[in-house]
Amino acid sequence: MINIGIIGVGTVGSSVITILNQNKDIIQARAGKFLNIKTAVVKNVSKNRDIDIKVTDNINDVLDDPSIDIVVELMGGVDEAFEVVKKALKMGKAVVTANKALLAYHRYELQECAGDIAFEYEAAVAGGIPIITALRDGLSANHILSIKGILNGTTNYMLDAMINDSVSYEYILNKAQNLGYAEANPTFDVDGFDAAHKLLILSSIAYGIDAKPEDILIEGIKNIKPDDIKFAKDFNYAIKLLGIAKKIGSKVELRVHPVLISKDKMIAKIDGVMNGISVVGDKVGETLYYGAGAGGDATASAVVANIIDIARAGKASPMLGFNKPLEDNLTLVAKNDIKCKYYVRFDVANQPGVLHSISKILSDKNISIETMLQNQKNNQRANLLITIYETYEKDLNDAIDNIKQLDFVDKTISKIRIEN
Ligand code: HSE
Repeated sequence: MINIGIIGVGTVGSSVITILNQNKDIIQARAGKFLNIKTAVVKNVSKNRDIDIKVTDNINDVLDDPSIDIVVELMGGVDEAFEVVKKALKMGKAVVTANKALLAYHRYELQECAGDIAFEYEAAVAGGIPIITALRDGLSANHILSIKGILNGTTNYMLDAMINDSVSYEYILNKAQNLGYAEANPTFDVDGFDAAHKLLILSSIAYGIDAKPEDILIEGIKNIKPDDIKFAKDFNYAIKLLGIAKKIGSKVELRVHPVLISKDKMIAKIDGVMNGISVVGDKVGETLYYGAGAGGDATASAVVANIIDIARAGKASPMLGFNKPLEDNLTLVAKNDIKCKYYVRFDVANQPGVLHSISKILSDKNISIETMLQNQKNNQRANLLITIYETYEKDLNDAIDNIKQLDFVDKTISKIRIEN
C-alpha cells in the first residue's frame, strides 16, 4: 500500500479523491499497489465534506508522518508551497504537484532538492494532456526546434466565445470563473501569466533554459477590441493566446501573446476550454497534443497518473529530464530583439496627410507595410488597419510611441502579432 497526503482540497483536490475512489480497481491494477489517501490538509476543517479521510488544517500532520510516501501539493501559491515541498523532499517523500507558478520560479532549485526522489508535475501544464511525459520522455531523442501551444483554457474559451458568439469580455470571464476554469486570481489567465508559467516549464525540459516570468515577453488578451475581432473574421484569421518557444541557432525565443493565425492551421481550430500544443523535434518532425487544459477531473487525471507512476517505479527520471546542461551557451532572446509580423490598428481623423505621417514614422524605423485598409467609422474618424512585415519589437514600440504624439491619432492603438 502507498500512503498519500494531499495538501489542498479545492476543485482539483476533490477530483483526485473522487478518481482514486471511483477508479480504484483499475488504478490498483496499474499501480500494482493500493493507493490510500491517508490525510487531507484543508483550510477549513469544519466545512462539511463527503470524504472518508482524516482531515486536518496542520500541514505537518502530513510532512511529519513517516508512513506517508507521497505528498500531493495542491495548495497553490509560490512561497509557502515552496517551503512545504522542500520539507516533504527533505523528509524523503515523493512529491506530486499541479503548481505551475511554483515551478515557474523554483524548478531548478526543486530539481536540485529532489535528487533521486520522485518529483512529478504533469498537471502543471495543459491540465489533462500528458505533455510533460511526451516532451521529457517520448521526445527525449530530439533537439526541440519549437513549441507552440494554447496553454490556457480560460482565455481560449473566452476568445472563442468573444469571436464566435460576440459576447462581451466581462460576461465570458465571469462564466469561465463559474465553470472552475479560471485561476483563483483570473488576472493570471487573462494577462498571460498562467500560460507563461507553463511555457517556462516546457522550455526548461526542451532547452534547459532557466528563465523567470519577468524575463520573457508576456501579453494577455485584455486589449483585443471588437474592431480587431472584425478584422480577424474578415480576413479568415483566428485569434489565439499562444505560448511560443523557438530555437534559433544558439538562442531561444520565449513569448506569450495573442496572435492572428490563419484559420486553416491546426492550432487555430482548437476552441473552447481545450488546450493544444505543437512540438517540433529535429528527428520526429511535428507532433500535436490536444485535450482539456483546465477543470477538476482533467487536471486530477494527470495528478493521479503521476501518483500511479511513482507507485510503480518508486523513482522518477530527473525532474526536468536532464542530468547535465542540455546544450552549452543557449541564451534567451531579449524581449526587444524578438521579431514578428504585426497587425496594427490606428483610430485616426479622416483627413489629408494622416496616412503620409504614419507611414513616414514607420519607414523611419525601417518598418515595411505589407497591407493597408481604411474603414470609415463616421464622417470624422476612420480605422487604419495595417499589417507589417517582420520587425523588431523595439522598433515597432518606438514607432507607436511616436505615432501617439500625432494629434489626429487616438492614443489607444491595437497591435496583434501575426503567426504563420
Ligand atoms: N486557469 C487555467 C486555465 C487552469 O484556464 O488553463 C489550468 O492550469
